[in-house]
Formats: sequence, C-alpha cells, structure tokens
Amino acid sequence: MLNRLVYYSVRACDDGEVIRLAARAAARNESLGVTGLLIADRTVFMQILEGPRALVSQVFASIARDGRHTDVIVADVSEIEALSYPKWGLALLNDREKIHAIWRRVGGDRLWEPRLLNAVQLRALFRIAMADAQRVARDAPALQVVMA
Ligand SMILES: Cc1cc2nc3c(=O)[nH]c(=O)nc-3n(C[C@H](O)[C@H](O)[C@H](O)COP(=O)(O)O)c2cc1C
Repeated sequence: MLNRLVYYSVRACDDGEVIRLAARAAARNESLGVTGLLIADRTVFMQILEGPRALVSQVFASIARDGRHTDVIVADVSEIEALSYPKWGLALLNDREKIHAIWRRVGGDRLWEPRLLNAVQLRALFRIAMADAQRVARDAPALQVVMA
C-alpha cells in the first residue's frame, strides 16, 4: 500500500545544513523507494513523502526526532494509487521567490503560514512545486534539485 504524508515544521538550521541534509535524505529515500519534495523557506519546512506505508512511517519517525527543526505538525496522510514523483529520492525547493510565488497561487495574499492551508491546498502547492521542479531540472537549476 502506498501512502502520502505531508508535514510542516519550524526550521532550526542554516542554509548549508539544509543542503547537506537534503543530499543525505535524497540518497536514503532513493535506497528505500521513498520519494518527496522538501520546501525550505526561511523559517518553515514543508515536506511531502510518498512510498510504501511502512517506509514512509519509518522515514517520518526519524525526521520527527531531528533537532534541525521543531514543532513538527502532520497535515495530511492518505493512501495513493501511484507515486507523484517517481524520479526523485528528494527534491529540494529553497528558492524563496519561487516558494512565495507558488504560495500566492494557492493561498492568495495571506501570510506565508502553512497552518493556514487545508490538505487540498497543501496538495495543490506541492503539485505546482513538483511540476516546477521537473521543468527546472531539465533546464537550469534556479531551483535546487537534490537527486541521489
Ligand atoms: C526538514 C528535514 C527533512 C528531512 N527529510 C528526510 C528525508 O526525506 N529522508 C531521510 O531519510 N531523512 C530526512 N531527514 C533527516 C532525518 O531526520 C535523519 O537525520 C536521517 O534520516 C538519519 O536518521 P537516523 O539518524 O535516525 O538514522 C530530514 C531532516 C529534516 C530536518
């Protein structure tokens, strides 16, 4: 059974650490058959993980214990028919202008606050971010995509 899990959290590490952790996470996810996208804004992380249920749970359990963020809130857990991002262990979106442009498409002019979005809006946000990631990965990486 395949599951999707979305959470958001309060970021507690700098940009260099985010890139390092994303590179390791991408390799680990790929070896497990888990895929995902991490959005790293200045103060907030948002991540979607997809894969076999037990493995998504296992990866999320170690993420939830990680001291590089706090206040981890699960926003969506659901069964899915197929992976949305089969190509990646993990893509990282850390371009703030891009993040905020996507946010405005989904959340309008409200403050950049993941807790203001419902599960459907969160899914839309990740769908747009991932379409972007796939487009940019083919061109130039203004968006940083970390691949295993
Ligand atoms: C915001 C954030 C996202 C992370 N995403 C992943 C991930 O997708 N996959 C992964 O294996 N580790 C991820 N990690 C790292 C894990 O928390 C953890 O450090 C790593 O899995 C090693 O876990 P362990 O020390 O319990 O073995 C993430 C950490 C943070 C702070």
